Amino acid sequence: MTLVGRHLVQPADFSVEEIESVLDLGLRIKEDPSKYIRVAEGKLLATLFYEPSTRTRLSFEAAMNRLGGRIIGFSDPGASSVSKGESLEDTITTVSNYVDVIAMRHPISGAAIQASKACKIPFINAGDGKNQHPTQTLTDLLTIKACKGQLNNLTIAMCGDLKYGRTVHSLAKAMSRYTDTKFIFIAPDELKMPEEVLNDIEGINYEQTSSLEEAIGKCDILYMTRVQRERFEDKAQYERLKDTYILDVEKMSKAKENMLVLHPLPRVNEIAVEVDQDPRAKYFEQAQYGMYVRMALIMKLLGIGE
Ligand code: NCD
Repeated sequence: MTLVGRHLVQPADFSVEEIESVLDLGLRIKEDPSKYIRVAEGKLLATLFYEPSTRTRLSFEAAMNRLGGRIIGFSDPGASSVSKGESLEDTITTVSNYVDVIAMRHPISGAAIQASKACKIPFINAGDGKNQHPTQTLTDLLTIKACKGQLNNLTIAMCGDLKYGRTVHSLAKAMSRYTDTKFIFIAPDELKMPEEVLNDIEGINYEQTSSLEEAIGKCDILYMTRVQRERFEDKAQYERLKDTYILDVEKMSKAKENMLVLHPLPRVNEIAVEVDQDPRAKYFEQAQYGMYVRMALIMKLLGIGE
């Protein structure tokens, strides 16, 4: 099945084979980006960001620019017709008359599926509330594939805010489709992985713990996340929980020699800066894979350049 014209709202919208084809193209682009500098000439991407973001928006914009395409959009909904009361559907319908592909970030969970239904051109969810973040997942999968050479047979520990973190919701679902995946979910009681996600990965081997020290020696991938301050109603609770986990050199000494540390970024306090020097720390490389995989995704959805 072709990816041309499709939407990406959550990882499950693509089959494992389709995801594989995006990752493979991402790797080919990384090997020789100069081959792709004109493939999107004449094409337009709209980045509609209803929620603050630096890296995801810049990553999309860098991706489209590197393909030779152009970008329009907003990063401050206050400056758009939203502030005049326009519905999400009307904005999407209008913008889809101007451009070839839309990437949207929105603070409300479910806004992406709602918008995609009104969208006649390829629609990419760039993060909707605490729900899903499928292009971060493509980024994570590409990083794992590139650094480990495989996506099967891995124990992946996810640590931090598993309740509000959309990246871990998407990644858990995506990784559950590979052979012999095992999960360790590390979170304090207040921030445990939601039931819906656990139901979604039914049949997959997982354990839950609140101890990073206990889990760190057992995993192949340690996926650290920040506590999502903006999603807390109770700010005192955020203050209490924000520094629950801090990965430092001492904890790293208990990890496997070939373990990878990933993080979707931005980092707050959950990884000490001293860990950056450790060759197992891959989070900045991961950000670069994010750009390549978005280039690959745009190409696939537009059916260009292959
Ligand atoms: C993540 C997000 O927006 O969910 N960041 C990102 O896309 N680079 C993670 C986060 O904000 O913690």
